[in-house]
Amino acid sequence: MRYLVLSDIHANLAAFEAVLRDVKHRHVGYDAIWFLGDLVGYGPEPNECVEQMRALAPAVSLAGNHDWAVLGKIDVAAFHDLAADVVNWTREVLTAENRAYLQDRPTQATVDDFLLVHASPREPVWEYVLDPATALANFAVMGTPYALVGHSHLPLLFVTNPAQPKERPRAFLVSPNTSIFLRSGLQYILNPGSVGQPRDQDPRAAYAVLDTEARTWTLYRTEYPVQHTQAKMRALGFAEPLIVRLQLGR
Ligand SMILES: [Fe+2]
Repeated sequence: MRYLVLSDIHANLAAFEAVLRDVKHRHVGYDAIWFLGDLVGYGPEPNECVEQMRALAPAVSLAGNHDWAVLGKIDVAAFHDLAADVVNWTREVLTAENRAYLQDRPTQATVDDFLLVHASPREPVWEYVLDPATALANFAVMGTPYALVGHSHLPLLFVTNPAQPKERPRAFLVSPNTSIFLRSGLQYILNPGSVGQPRDQDPRAAYAVLDTEARTWTLYRTEYPVQHTQAKMRALGFAEPLIVRLQLGR
């Protein structure tokens, strides 16, 4: 099976549509979509993005922390002020149907050897896996060879050998258009990066394709009209730092 793995769309429709177009142009092909959460928050098109996702009917579609904040399942006080403002705005504009879609999202899913969560295996909605020590703690509890995570908005890969529990996991920032071969016997935590708000200094939308037969993980990047999203944010009066960060990729 080939899975299109998306995460952290964050109400950025131009980025979301660009990814779907890029997948078609490259003829990468996939059998199903796995979405790792944060469909809304930060961006100006929450309803459009939820509707696009509903139309795609992904095999897995998880809740992220921003989705939960919009639903009131997480207190916005836990968020940066600028992010909280957009959470509050999203709450006001989200239609009842789209809110119901977010409400129904699970926080994790397991498909064969893959555990899917928004944030981390031990804290599915909240923890950032950014360093080998955090990855190590999560490798110990995940119970599967592979975990797919989003949340950090960075296309990171952590790998460890469970037969060598004292060795630190290795961490890589995955380059685009590079297929990583997933070796059996090792454990991996894989992040496809963010569609709608990349944070690795590369503003291009990120996504990944997982091929479970070839056992490959391939990251892709695609440009999108950042200025389209920014113009919509400005028209809605969103804070300037949230607008500028999209063109900087951070
Ligand atoms: Fe996010």
